[in-house]
Amino acid sequence: MASKQRIRKAVIPAAGLGTRFLPATKAIPKEMLPIIDVPTVQLIVKEASDSGIEEVIFVTGRGKSSIIDHFDMHTDLVRKLRETGKEDLALVVEEINDLARVTSVRQQEPKGLGHAVLCAKHLVGDEPFMVLLGDDLVNASPPCTQQMIDVFEKHQKSVVALQRVGSDEVTDFGICGGQTIADRVYELDSMVEKPSEEDAPSNLAIVGRYVLKPEIFEYLEATEPDDQGEIQLTDAMARMMKVDGFTGYEFSGKRFDAGDKFGFLQANISYGLKRRDIAPRLKAYLRDILNN
Ligand code: UTP
Repeated sequence: MASKQRIRKAVIPAAGLGTRFLPATKAIPKEMLPIIDVPTVQLIVKEASDSGIEEVIFVTGRGKSSIIDHFDMHTDLVRKLRETGKEDLALVVEEINDLARVTSVRQQEPKGLGHAVLCAKHLVGDEPFMVLLGDDLVNASPPCTQQMIDVFEKHQKSVVALQRVGSDEVTDFGICGGQTIADRVYELDSMVEKPSEEDAPSNLAIVGRYVLKPEIFEYLEATEPDDQGEIQLTDAMARMMKVDGFTGYEFSGKRFDAGDKFGFLQANISYGLKRRDIAPRLKAYLRDILNN
């Protein structure tokens, strides 16, 4: 009964080179850069965990082992914190391990997002799964992953998260076209990776959350690399859409591209303004610099 399978697993591709964030990403994975004091990728795993995901599969590459270390137990540190009376910090560290069961697979070369997802095939198996990009943050309640799973359970087709972008931005995204079938829900009939403004079927852009049926792996295996040598997930999804159908979902919430310098700054300010320990000072500081 594949159609009624629960979504238990999430793949988090995190093997990209992060060239937009050099020089910081020369030796530090962009996924580990912190939003205030929490690595981007921990916020993403928390979103998955809060949405009922039990197992997180990281796709990592060269120089990315700190991501896996971050989700490992660190009993010495926890013991030391307890011995020195820092129970609150001990709990903060311990909570990371309770989020989900973490496994990983290496992508030997960064050959594109589609290739990264394909690397996780043997760990996903024959069940629908979530994909959350390791540098895409969504601040939402209920969590974006939960919203996507709800749409999948209702329509029983793979789901891609959509957000509206300016017409001059369509060239930076995968863009979808389709018919509205419910509030914020579209039955998709086209998906184009980075179209020209004239060729874009709409201004609905694909962002980093997907629910994929396991059939996607067959399409990825049959996808040729593009002229940059990358296997694009959008290409495989576009072909799967024609046979299996695909749902687009304009999620509610605010998305940040934390792999981009400006997106990262926006995320830090926005999350800072929601943190009780930071917000009053941050608000006063922003007011101060804007008035001077
Ligand atoms: P991006 O395109 O944002 O990542 O991919 P990138 O290639 O690292 O970025 P820039 O353009 O060079 O700055 C989105 C997500 O997919 C992962 C990235 O790590 C990121 O979390 N990814 C991308 C892979 O895992 N493997 C790849 O081959 C490409």
